[in-house]
Amino acid sequence: MREITTVGVIGLGTMGAGIVEVFARGGLDVVGVETTQEYADRGRAILQASTDRAVARGRLDEAGQAEILGRVTISTDLGDLAGADLVVEAVPEIMALKHEVFAKLDDIVAEDAVLASNTSSLSITQIAAPTRHPGRVVGLHFFNPAPVLKLVEVITTLRSEPAVVEAVVAVSERLGKKPVVVGDRAGFVANYLLFGYFTSALRMLEHGHVSREDLDTAMRVGAGLPMGPCTLMDLVGLDVCHHIGDVIYSHTRSSMHAPSPMLGRMVTSGLLGRKSGRGFYTYARPGGGQVV
Ligand code: 3HC
Repeated sequence: MREITTVGVIGLGTMGAGIVEVFARGGLDVVGVETTQEYADRGRAILQASTDRAVARGRLDEAGQAEILGRVTISTDLGDLAGADLVVEAVPEIMALKHEVFAKLDDIVAEDAVLASNTSSLSITQIAAPTRHPGRVVGLHFFNPAPVLKLVEVITTLRSEPAVVEAVVAVSERLGKKPVVVGDRAGFVANYLLFGYFTSALRMLEHGHVSREDLDTAMRVGAGLPMGPCTLMDLVGLDVCHHIGDVIYSHTRSSMHAPSPMLGRMVTSGLLGRKSGRGFYTYARPGGGQVV
C-alpha cells in the first residue's frame, strides 16, 4: 500500500470541514474540495471557527493553529485531488451524487489511492459497485463533532481489499481515533442502535409521555450520556436524523426504526435543530450551542 500523507476531502459542510481539521491536526496535508466558492468559503470558516475555539480554550497556541491551517488547501476543482493517497467523500446523502463523485475520482486519483465515503447510512457496496476498482473503496464514518469524538467506523464490503482496510485503520489510529471495523448493513453499528433509540424517544414525546427536557435529563443524568436525545438530534440536524432513519427503515423494516410523524412535521416546518436556530430547542445563534 502507498503511504497515506496527503488526503482529499470532498464536501466541506459540518462533517467534511471537521474531517479536514482531524487530518490536518494529525499532521497530514489536506485538500478540501467544494462545488462553489461560496461553499468553499463556508468550509474554511467552519475550520477557522473550530481552531479559534481551541486557541481560546488554551488547547492550541496560535503557531499550532497556523501550522494546522497551513496544511489545508481549499479548492473548487476535483482535479486538485490528483496527488491524494486517500480521498474521503462527505457530499450530501444522495446515491446518484456519490456515484458521480466516485466516477470522477476513478479518472483523477492514482490507481492505488484509497477511496472512502463518510456516508451515515447509505450502502458502501452500492457506492463502490460502479467504480473501476471497488476493492479500494471502504466507508470511513466520523461522528459529530468530528474533531472531538474518537470513534470512526471503517466499513468493509465483500470486495474491500484487506490491505486497504489495514491502511485506513492505521491512518485512523495515527489521527488519535479509535477505529472499529464493521460490515456494510444499514446504519452500520452505531447509527443502527442510536437511531432505534431516537425513534423510541420520539414515540415517548408523540405520546405525551414525558417533556423533552425531562427526557433529556433522564438520559443525561440517569444514563450518564453527554446529551439527551432531543439535544443530540438538534446537534445532528433533524433533517439528517429524518433521512438516516428513513434509509435504515427502508432496509430493515424494523419497527425500531419506523418513521416518526412528529419528526417529519418538524423538518417540513424548517425546524432543523441547531443549524436553523430551532429544533426541539431554540438557539441564540444558528449553529451555536446556547439554548434560549
Ligand atoms: N467542533 C470542534 N470542537 C468542538 C465542537 C465542535 N463542533 N463542539 C465542542 N467542541 C469541543 C470543545 O471545544 C471542547 O474542547 P476542549 O475540551 O478541548 O476545550 C470539547 O469539545 C467539549 O465541549 P464543551 O465543553 O463546549 O461542551 P461539552 O463538554 O458539552 O461537549 C460535545 C460537547 C463534545 C458535543 C458533547 O456534548 C458530546 O460528546 N455530545 C454527544 C455527541 C454525540 O453523541 N455525537 C454523535 C452523533 S451521531 C453521529 O454523528 C453519526 C452521524 O452519522 C449522524
